[in-house]
Amino acid sequence: MLLLSIESSADETGISLLDADGDFPHATYTIHGSALSSQMKEHNKWGGIVPSIAKREHAKYFPILLEEAATQAELLELHPTDLSDQDKTKLQELLVREEGLADALIGFCAQYSLPKIDLIAVTSGPGLEPALWVGVSFAKALAYITGANVIPTNHMEGHILASVYDVERDDMLSDIEFPAVALLISGGHTELINMSNWGTYDKVGQTRDDAVGEAFDKVARLLGLPYPGGPEISRLAAAARKADLPEFEALPRPMLYSGDLDFSFSGLKTAVRYAVQDKVNCEARQGESASAERRSPGGEGALGCQELTDDQKAAVARDFEDAVTQTLLKKTSTAVANTGAKTLIVGGGVSANGFIKRAFESHFLHEHPDCTVYFPTPSLATDNSIMIALAGHARAVGALSPGGAEGIQADGNKSL
Ligand code: KG4
Ligand code: ZN
Repeated sequence: MLLLSIESSADETGISLLDADGDFPHATYTIHGSALSSQMKEHNKWGGIVPSIAKREHAKYFPILLEEAATQAELLELHPTDLSDQDKTKLQELLVREEGLADALIGFCAQYSLPKIDLIAVTSGPGLEPALWVGVSFAKALAYITGANVIPTNHMEGHILASVYDVERDDMLSDIEFPAVALLISGGHTELINMSNWGTYDKVGQTRDDAVGEAFDKVARLLGLPYPGGPEISRLAAAARKADLPEFEALPRPMLYSGDLDFSFSGLKTAVRYAVQDKVNCEARQGESASAERRSPGGEGALGCQELTDDQKAAVARDFEDAVTQTLLKKTSTAVANTGAKTLIVGGGVSANGFIKRAFESHFLHEHPDCTVYFPTPSLATDNSIMIALAGHARAVGALSPGGAEGIQADGNKSL
């Protein structure tokens, strides 16, 4: 089955073309082409994702990435697609809200033809609705052109499948044992899910405020580091450990002993803010050189970071990463103990964090030796469209049942 997959839930635009040979969960996948474009630079100056910019950039990059993925796949035919005026009007209608996309797609069709595609998998949620809609509308337009079925997929299910996708061995999903627990840690989510089987999800814990990736991003911003903050914090934290820098501040582990499986990261972020603020003010007072105006009145912008030394910034990053890791580990370990899970799947952008991965692997090896731990291969940890193809294929039976693409909606709060 030839799948085309589309991801646009946040600030990564992705299109892949791949074959799935066999039935879920025992299929073998062949990735023919995969193109990904990050909008990181566009959002950097705002310190986070701006939905209207994300929407515009997805619309701009979809035709470019379609050409790139299909070229990599050697599946792009160099002759025009036969489009009538009525077809062009239909494409304009389908893409009416996506600036410039209909014209670009019609331009693409004037040059190229796509191969026969069996299934188009598109992220319909969760995520930023304006961003999701671009992908959903583009999927509908491509379905109109190619006659393929469209399946709406859940972005978080994509993260789960990406984490068990065994690229190194045989391009199959690992044969996992149930019950399983999934810890999903991304820019928008922090969730613990019990899985009694594939597709059976029971959310047993979640963040009550900020998602863990969001906390990484906000702490990074506080330290004057670029967006996305996770990789930056992780790099500084590693340097602090290597240099064995002293603790900057004893940070709290919010909700560590709350007795449930929920998380809270907003307080931790605020504790970092106060720790930095105290240090800056204290040193300023000692030097009698700071004026009151230099003290930040609050908010989440960069704060006095010019007054922190590089070592101090690195120590803050390490203390923060330690606090996050301990909290994630404690709650996840409890979730696994509660269900006797045989498998732990960690997924979402924050699972790219090497320190968190090593801490989990070492803890589980000693404390839960019967539980196999899966983290994604680094290239599949953050958002990508291969994970959406895996999720689409997993749900393919539904897609092939009657019902066209017309009714598919973006749903920013879609749950598993
Ligand atoms: O899953 P993802 O790519 O997008 C969403 O679905 O949200 O996750 C993005 C999040 C960002 O907050 C980013 O800072 C974080 O993942 N992230 C990391 C690392 N790499 C990405 N957090 C900690 N350590 C990393 N190495
Ligand atoms: Zn994600």
